[in-house]
Amino acid sequence: MTDLSDIHHTHRLPSARQPASAAISLRRVSKRYARRNDAPLHVLDGIDLDIPHGQVVAVLGASGCGKSTLLNLIAGLAHPDEGAILVEGASTAAYADWRAVGYLFQDDRLLPWRTARDNVCFGLEAGSLPRAERRASAREALAAVGLAEFESAYPHELSGGMRSRVALARSLVNQPRILLLDEPFSKLDPGTRAQMHAELLAIQASRGMTVVFVTHDVEEAIVLADQVVILQPRPGRIREIAPVTLARPRSPSMPEVAELIRQLRVLV
Ligand SMILES: Nc1ncnc2c1ncn2[C@@H]1O[C@H](COP(=O)(O)OP(=O)(O)OP(=O)(O)O)[C@@H](O)[C@H]1O
Ligand SMILES: [Mg+2]
Repeated sequence: MTDLSDIHHTHRLPSARQPASAAISLRRVSKRYARRNDAPLHVLDGIDLDIPHGQVVAVLGASGCGKSTLLNLIAGLAHPDEGAILVEGASTAAYADWRAVGYLFQDDRLLPWRTARDNVCFGLEAGSLPRAERRASAREALAAVGLAEFESAYPHELSGGMRSRVALARSLVNQPRILLLDEPFSKLDPGTRAQMHAELLAIQASRGMTVVFVTHDVEEAIVLADQVVILQPRPGRIREIAPVTLARPRSPSMPEVAELIRQLRVLV
């Protein structure tokens, strides 16, 4: 069982002592955005974080505190003003294997002129797989998110929650080693959400994937994650890193899980 007293005193992931084993490391990372007619917006400040291979990490924090910015920095889509970000040991500026990194953006970014299946195929097209195999992989990924019947539907024919599941399928279809998910389940009803949690954890465990996901839901963070990172806003700094060592599967109805949810809620 998690020692709750740890939550208030642990400011580093356990792996900070073995950075060589980390899938993702951030060292003193700061990010500012230039603004018109105003001082730059200081979004992230002095972020230090180590995410070991194969771990599931949840990022929590108020709207605008820099969670999506943090994922964009890890994905190499934005660059830090200070500090360094290492992905599988290489600086994001030099990292060469971005196909091993899946990213589900906060907005689903589906292409309106492509069917669900062809949206999921999109990430495979840069590779050398024949078309039939790409389609088979896309079908499999759609089936995993419960959308086998909707492979030929266009995005405008899908509900918001279905679109977010297509985006989840697209982020998984390349079999990434590192998966970045920005509020992947926020549009789902509780039942579908629980199914997607189980599906994600099964895929994660079978592939040993490293997962970093953003959520506003403390319950979801504790049910899924090995570590919960809580950011505080303006500028975004790490307020707390809470290890979660409770056995899986976890449910909010379990007393230890409920207690941890209660403890973390006051910090978010
Ligand atoms: N490309 C950008 N250019 C300028 N400012 C940006 C850019 N991206 C984000 N920001 C600003 O940085 C701050 C943090 O944005 P970010 O999207 O990282 O927040 P967030 O924690 O993901 O919030 P939410 O929970 O609402 O998604 C916001 O004030 C936003 O206006
Ligand atoms: Mg965001």
